Amino acid sequence: MIWRQIDGDREQIVGDRAGGVLLQGDARTVDLSAYQGRVQCVYLDPPFFTGDEFNFRMRVGESGWAEGKQYLTLGAYSDSFPGGQAQYLALLRGLLERAYDLLSDTGALFLHLDSRMSAHARILCDQIFKESNFINEIIWAYQSGGRSKRHFSRKHDVILFYAKSRQLYFDITRVAVPRRDTRSNHMRRTVDAQGRPCRTIRAGGKIYTYYDDEPAYPDDVWADVSHLQQKDPQRTGYDTQKPLALLNRIVRCCTRPGDIVADLCCGSGTTLMAAAENDCRFLGVDLSPHAISVCRKRLLDTTLEVRVPFTHTGARLEADLVPGIGYYEIELQNYEPDLAFPEGTRFTPAGLRVEGLDAIDQWSVGFLRDGAYKVYVSNARRKQTPALRTLLELPLLRGQAAISIVDVLGRRTLWVPEEEK
Ligand SMILES: C[S@@+](CC[C@H](N)C(=O)[O-])C[C@H]1O[C@@H](n2cnc3c(N)ncnc32)[C@H](O)[C@@H]1O
Repeated sequence: MIWRQIDGDREQIVGDRAGGVLLQGDARTVDLSAYQGRVQCVYLDPPFFTGDEFNFRMRVGESGWAEGKQYLTLGAYSDSFPGGQAQYLALLRGLLERAYDLLSDTGALFLHLDSRMSAHARILCDQIFKESNFINEIIWAYQSGGRSKRHFSRKHDVILFYAKSRQLYFDITRVAVPRRDTRSNHMRRTVDAQGRPCRTIRAGGKIYTYYDDEPAYPDDVWADVSHLQQKDPQRTGYDTQKPLALLNRIVRCCTRPGDIVADLCCGSGTTLMAAAENDCRFLGVDLSPHAISVCRKRLLDTTLEVRVPFTHTGARLEADLVPGIGYYEIELQNYEPDLAFPEGTRFTPAGLRVEGLDAIDQWSVGFLRDGAYKVYVSNARRKQTPALRTLLELPLLRGQAAISIVDVLGRRTLWVPEEEK
């Protein structure tokens, strides 16, 4: 059976975990009016003014996902500003103003940058959030990448933490770390009368005792969260992806379950993952279609609404739709992609051809109902499950059966069976 592409602008996935909404576009201008004053935490990890172009490495086909040797390198986003610092700071100002409007009175902003622009950003934040709402300059110190002999190697990022108002909600007890992780070598190691291990220090005529089994709380230098290593299983292929442990700390310290967390430059969706892990709802916005497809894949087990219009491509889809007892079996038979690779795409190995089902990264089956496409079952290629499942079962419910496909270029298409002539 031949299927045809149709329009659609809402894809709803029902998952087991707290979920949220994904939007594609410029976070300064997309319509976020429904979230005004309702967001508890905004994390911003915008371009850093590096002058570089950043990529997304898309693995291709079963062997690409199993072995990692077959992939496309696609442009994800540009961190180069022809208009110089003024253009960059206009972007930052726009994002910060948006963040300010979204936050509730108890809300918190975390702006992640590095030493290039953090001083300018601090002044902008003081203007938009008010100097009196500055809470912390967090230094995220890590060991990764090369070393320089021309200057001290730059091994930290800066995360500016501001409150929306004096009513900030912040609970450091939710981000306790084991005491052994804190600096304590200037203290005396001992045990108390009950034999409980502790460290003591004398200061101002008093003795302070810190028990090894009591939690400690992070200060504003975070050296205990490592950068993602090359082979880290968390890696999605999206350049500049941040570690989940970092975002878990940020989300946990300023939210309660049910709160809304927004990331206006969400990239691969790390913040949204952290929100879902902590039972928060999320809002993710990004300009890049690759960011949206990576987020979609990472968040397939959440209750997710992708509010991004489906596109039309020249691809051709053949699939069988067989009614069974209580369900349809939908089986992919043939897929002829129509891949117009953007300029600058790199192929590994050189000459790699992307044909048939290899062009599909994710697919799902569901129904068109109430103006949306509702997903019932999905399948996505992953390192643990590199092969695409070609048969999915759809319960026999009200509505028009449909298929959605995300191809290796991050294009999302929506399909229904072609009516017989
Ligand atoms: C440093 S990356 C974010 C990485 C992310 N924190 C992660 O863990 O994967 C910056 C992101 O900002 C996005 N971006 C840049 N300008 C934007 C804008 N005006 N609106 C929305 N997203 C934007 C880029 O597409 C890119 O994905």
